[in-house]
Amino acid sequence: MPSERSTYDLVIAANRLPVDRVTADDGTVEIRRSPGGLVTAMESVMRDHDGAWVGWAGETGDAPEPFDDGGIHLHPVGLSAEDVAFYYEGFSNDTLWPIYHDVIVPASFHRDWWQAYQRVNQRFAEAVAALAAPGATVWVHDYQLQLVPAMLRRLRPDVRIGWFDHIPFPPVELFAQLPWRSQLLEGLLGADFLGFQRQADARNFVRACRQLLQARTKRDLVHVEGSSRTVRAAAIPISVDFKGLERLAKQPEVMARSAQIRESLGNPKVLMLGVDRLDYTKGIRHRLKAYEELLVEGRFSPPDVTLVQVATPSRERVGAYRTLRGEIEQTVGRINGEYSRIGAPAVHYLHHSYPREEMAALFQAADVMLVTPLRDGMNLVAKEYVTCRHDLGGALVLSEFTGAWHELHQAFACNPHDIEGLKQAMVRAVNTPAKDRQRIMQALRRRVSDHDVQRWAARYLAALRSAPDRPRLEQVA
Ligand code: ADP
Ligand code: F6P
Repeated sequence: MPSERSTYDLVIAANRLPVDRVTADDGTVEIRRSPGGLVTAMESVMRDHDGAWVGWAGETGDAPEPFDDGGIHLHPVGLSAEDVAFYYEGFSNDTLWPIYHDVIVPASFHRDWWQAYQRVNQRFAEAVAALAAPGATVWVHDYQLQLVPAMLRRLRPDVRIGWFDHIPFPPVELFAQLPWRSQLLEGLLGADFLGFQRQADARNFVRACRQLLQARTKRDLVHVEGSSRTVRAAAIPISVDFKGLERLAKQPEVMARSAQIRESLGNPKVLMLGVDRLDYTKGIRHRLKAYEELLVEGRFSPPDVTLVQVATPSRERVGAYRTLRGEIEQTVGRINGEYSRIGAPAVHYLHHSYPREEMAALFQAADVMLVTPLRDGMNLVAKEYVTCRHDLGGALVLSEFTGAWHELHQAFACNPHDIEGLKQAMVRAVNTPAKDRQRIMQALRRRVSDHDVQRWAARYLAALRSAPDRPRLEQVA
């Protein structure tokens, strides 16, 4: 086992480590890649930086010893069964997640969940404080760790602290429902710089500080009451490792696998694809409804048209996720019962995680990529899809309620609540002449390649270094 250095100049803290440890009944330990966009993005950034990553290794109980994986130093934080139930499944994913995603399902408020959230955030702050070198840079991530910036500042006033919000930041009218709204804002104001996916998210945060803390604010700056500190809140949208993923997608084995996927689906004229964590924010039900109506109306029919829906297992013990899984699987069953033929299912439903190569092959195989969230901070799947389409094939149907839509305007836009509109976008994506689709794909790819995850990280770190002032141009990649 590699020995842990005592301190690091860059420490990142995120709820999850990039890999989960999974112990089987016979005691063997398997290391699996963790789900979600945060890990996809930060893993590629950390490969280029020498630093430590503090996070949960995905199992309950004592933290395993620190370990290295893929050239990244990983420092696990332990979560007990109660911490997982109250801090992770409860406060993070049944209180904050719904409030931060437009209350698509109702949020639950429990004081013992809040206690656990404070306790676990303190544990993360202490782990980071012990690892950070004097004057180090600490980059905290996402809604699970909003108290860490202030807790860490109390422990280590010498370090520079940034926080990045991977999900939306809600309008003050929704945020104000939280009984612990002031504590959350004060927790975040412990940072030097706060990054958000969209300007609207940064503005929502500044407005919440003004209205709920009576903080003095000026444009993107919030003055911290009782101190001389000012915190900047700005939009720096996250992205994908364009070069790395494109290289992967160009590998002959990946391209051959893509052809093989189409072949095993019976070489449909149109292959539609959805790839999402099985989450109610992703609009999977709306997508299936639109697809089913197109089948009913005879505008689509298998085997000419088929849909592959990859629904990655997620947060399976949280009630709303269990309910959603039941609904989706019932709908898929109904559609297939009605419209499949032997050897030609209308929907191929896959409830698994796959290696990156397989995902890249799937993206290349798909004629139409359906990204239809009701609300999504960014949606990296949309950016991954266009990155993999080096052949300029394919078409992206993209919800206006994703952060990605603010950058990828040329996509076939949709409002997933408007089922007729969604159907039209799907049909347009299929019927637009290939030359026009190629032109669109070229524009989408240019945007992602010019604004890749390396540039995102460089911009973020430059903003953090210069906070609360704006970074000078030469500091930004
Ligand atoms: P979120 O962070 O909400 O899950 P994103 O679209 O931003 O949503 O990121 C999801 C990430 O997880 C992407 O990198 C995507 O490729 C990956 N992913 C999603 N489903 C799977 C799966 N079944 N197997 C492997 N990777 C997946
Ligand atoms: O970015 C959204 C996000 O919630 C990340 O914070 C998280 O790591 C990922 O999606 C997957 O969710 P979870 O960690 O709850 O499985």
